[in-house]
Amino acid sequence: MPQPSYTVFSEIYDMVMRDVDYVRWAQYVLKLAAKYRFSTERILNLACGSGALELQLAPRGCRLTGLDSSEAMLEKARAKMAEHGLTVDFHLGDMRKFKLNGTFPLVLCLYDSINYLLSEEDVARCFTAVAQHLSPGGGFIFDITTEYNIMANFSNFTFAENFERFAYIWENSYNLGSKICTSDVTVFLPDESGRYFTRTTERHRQKIYPQRTIQNLLRETGFSLEAAYDGMTLEAPGRQTERIHFVCRR
Ligand SMILES: C[S@@+](CC[C@H](N)C(=O)[O-])C[C@H]1O[C@@H](n2cnc3c(N)ncnc32)[C@H](O)[C@@H]1O
Repeated sequence: MPQPSYTVFSEIYDMVMRDVDYVRWAQYVLKLAAKYRFSTERILNLACGSGALELQLAPRGCRLTGLDSSEAMLEKARAKMAEHGLTVDFHLGDMRKFKLNGTFPLVLCLYDSINYLLSEEDVARCFTAVAQHLSPGGGFIFDITTEYNIMANFSNFTFAENFERFAYIWENSYNLGSKICTSDVTVFLPDESGRYFTRTTERHRQKIYPQRTIQNLLRETGFSLEAAYDGMTLEAPGRQTERIHFVCRR
């Protein structure tokens, strides 16, 4: 029976994602914030994961609040901030129904995290909760992964790596009918003796939404769309766009 997502995977997440360029991602977000005149003084980062973006943004003078539904990922994020002497306010919570004190001029939700919401109702719930936490005129920047990306890079693809300390196998399948990509991640970690490995599988499910659906949901939840961009560019999304960044205003 697979475990829920981001339990054991949290142990290896940073290594598996070691090639993700969070420096560039942080710069891109700051560039969008400047372009659309959103203050970056206080930022709420939904689905913050292990704090990789916080590590880039906190030293630049942004006051960050991170929220994630995985305690294991938050533990990694807290440890990372402590190691770098940074202060970030982390909360365990569900991005579909969270309640934090105060409002923020900017809310982020990056790296395909919205795709973890498996129905339009859940996406709308998340957008509504975001709207309730935004200052008037505040910005919401998030991304989604596209069907093109899933078909080109994930559907029926298996990734595996064998490190000295651990190994993993990441098996992906995509259902064109339900638009759900299921990823079973099997992680082999050393047990306490260090002589044996324990094997744990966790299941991730992500849903693909057309750009139009997301834009309709934004409108229905009171956002105005400023722009939708292909990846980390300022170009409009095209047929081979792997990730779309949305910039919205409340
Ligand atoms: C692909 S990771 C991205 C993490 C981080 N944004 C990054 O860029 O590394 C997806 C994250 O979404 C979180 N997540 C999934 N569903 C969530 C929900 N309903 N509420 C809050 N966090 C959620 C997971 O726990 C995980 O940390």
